[in-house]
Amino acid sequence: MPRLCLISLEAHPQLVKGLVQELAAQELAVELHNFPDGEHYVRLEGECKDAIVILVVGMRNPDQVLLPLIFLADLLHEMGASKVVLVAPYLAYMRQDIRFKPGEAVSSRSFAAVLSAHIDGLITVDPHLHRYHALSEIYQVPALALSSTELMADWIKAHINMPVLVGPDAESMQWVQAIASVADLPYTVLHKIRRGDRDVEVSMPELDRWRDHTPVLIDDIISSGHTLLETLHHLRSLALPQAVCVAVHGIFAGEAYDLLRGFGVRDLVTSNSLQHPSNVLDLTPVLTRGIRSWVKEYVNEFS
Ligand code: R5P
Repeated sequence: MPRLCLISLEAHPQLVKGLVQELAAQELAVELHNFPDGEHYVRLEGECKDAIVILVVGMRNPDQVLLPLIFLADLLHEMGASKVVLVAPYLAYMRQDIRFKPGEAVSSRSFAAVLSAHIDGLITVDPHLHRYHALSEIYQVPALALSSTELMADWIKAHINMPVLVGPDAESMQWVQAIASVADLPYTVLHKIRRGDRDVEVSMPELDRWRDHTPVLIDDIISSGHTLLETLHHLRSLALPQAVCVAVHGIFAGEAYDLLRGFGVRDLVTSNSLQHPSNVLDLTPVLTRGIRSWVKEYVNEFS
């Protein structure tokens, strides 16, 4: 394995610590500062000559992290890094994957183009691939989409007695089906209509066959929380056992977390792709394997 350095930008400290240990990487510190006018100052502490640098970035606030990320990636290249690999456990801007209304920017494409111009590779977990089927449709660097399905399935099997999986919309189908198949569980997937950021309508689940089962809501992203809230609302009216929510990426915008907790969910579980009190699923092993395989596959090819 070539020399690996790792830099964290807003990443979960537990994840960073785990990756540094598992990959025997050298963690490099970065000084970040905002000038009085808001412009970003970035300074690398340490050296990265000939190293593969893994930039682990938490993208809960992608607009705030994008410019420091770009400045840092360019700096690392200038300082002699052999490769700069972006590890974004949660990859932002994937949901605007089509022009839903005339005149809308397809921001996923622009975001991907900007990042691709500054990095040599991308590794992420469960990106929101819905209308795109692969990251290569928009990212111009070798990109790896890892899966947290097995982690989610293992957690559900270990903690929930008689679960039935509930996907709130067609987009959740891929995760629901994958978990159901790994853990051999029943599932249903609902239909969602989104009218606005916090205005969604979800179809009524038909769970008559599983009245004594615990509903486990599965989604890739919790943002405003309204997709899950609407689904929980229906479940409450069906008088099933208390529901559990499992999602890969917990953005929890605004008061989403409090609203969901206030609904009386039994457990609210996310991965540590974004730092949050709901983090239970540790992505360290998934990312460690992913980084090793990216390096094995692409470093020799390019050197
Ligand atoms: C989109 O369909 C995603 O899979 C999620 O369902 C969505 O991002 C959740 O957003 P919110 O929490 O704002 O309803």
